[in-house]
Amino acid sequence: MAKELKTIGVLTSGGDAPGMNAAIRAVVRTAVHAGLNVKGIMRGFSGLLEEEIVDMDAKSVADIINRGGTILYTARCQEMKTKEGQKKAADICRKHDIDAVVVIGGDGSFKGAAELAENGIRTIGVPGTIDLDIVCTDYTIGFDTACNTAVEAIDKVRDTSASHERCSIIEVMGRNAGYIALWSGIATGSDEILIPEYYDGDEQVVVDAIIDSRKRGKKHHIIINAEGIGHSTSMAKRLEAATGIETRATILGYMQRGGAPSCKDRYFASIMGSMAVQLLLEGKTNRLVCYQHGDFCDVDIMEGLAMTKPFPEEQFCLTKTLTR
Ligand code: F6P
Repeated sequence: MAKELKTIGVLTSGGDAPGMNAAIRAVVRTAVHAGLNVKGIMRGFSGLLEEEIVDMDAKSVADIINRGGTILYTARCQEMKTKEGQKKAADICRKHDIDAVVVIGGDGSFKGAAELAENGIRTIGVPGTIDLDIVCTDYTIGFDTACNTAVEAIDKVRDTSASHERCSIIEVMGRNAGYIALWSGIATGSDEILIPEYYDGDEQVVVDAIIDSRKRGKKHHIIINAEGIGHSTSMAKRLEAATGIETRATILGYMQRGGAPSCKDRYFASIMGSMAVQLLLEGKTNRLVCYQHGDFCDVDIMEGLAMTKPFPEEQFCLTKTLTR
């Protein structure tokens, strides 16, 4: 018979994402509404291992739904990858009477959550990452805001690029995943999208495409380069030398992780955060809150992480059709 659920902990882990605060708020308020105690665990699993744990109530999460970042701070934790760290984390939860933990983060954070469940602490994961790279869910909190930020910036670069008849390389975030590049590239009508999933390093293809579109009368060119490909500044120099067209690089960087969350991110964060607590109240553990085919659902953490999802190649190829 599972121990009665009285106290839950909540933490954010990995790279921050706009909407994490809205998710924390939903977790805390849903738990308080259900009569549970809530403890905020600071700095992800690192803070848990350091026992940085604070009491939270409904007021602790007032005025945060509109704020980027995470009021609980976040970190990446190497110690949580070790058996000793995982056992220690569970022991600390028991010491603080934490029966269950809601982990808001990405893949790495969910492995930690699964280990915590393995060590006897109930856990639920909520997908929070700007990268949209958690295969078992069609939506991750922060992606929409990050894309909107990228689109706004790309539109601005486009203005000056067009005025100077230049080629512009704009680097967006995504070390291993090209979703921000794909979405922001399509949404800004960019000429080329270079992403880790498909780019084979053949710059001549890019050079040929720029020269070809110049011949067709195009006056400026926008190339979206994902962080995983990187080297935008040196790439700009090489493209300029090969095409004879002035080329500049702009690296958007961490601005994509900040800022007020969009309506969509706040909405998803509110539903998913609340669902995490509902799942715990139903006695579930070791689950991920997901969004699949238009519906919210939950999957086993390790099964979810083991799923595969092909990158939407047809959508990627659409750039070529839509750019003239
Ligand atoms: O949160 C995801 C992400 O922004 C990736 O796109 C990026 O590669 C990575 O985090 C950078 O993380 P860090 O904060 O460790 O520099």
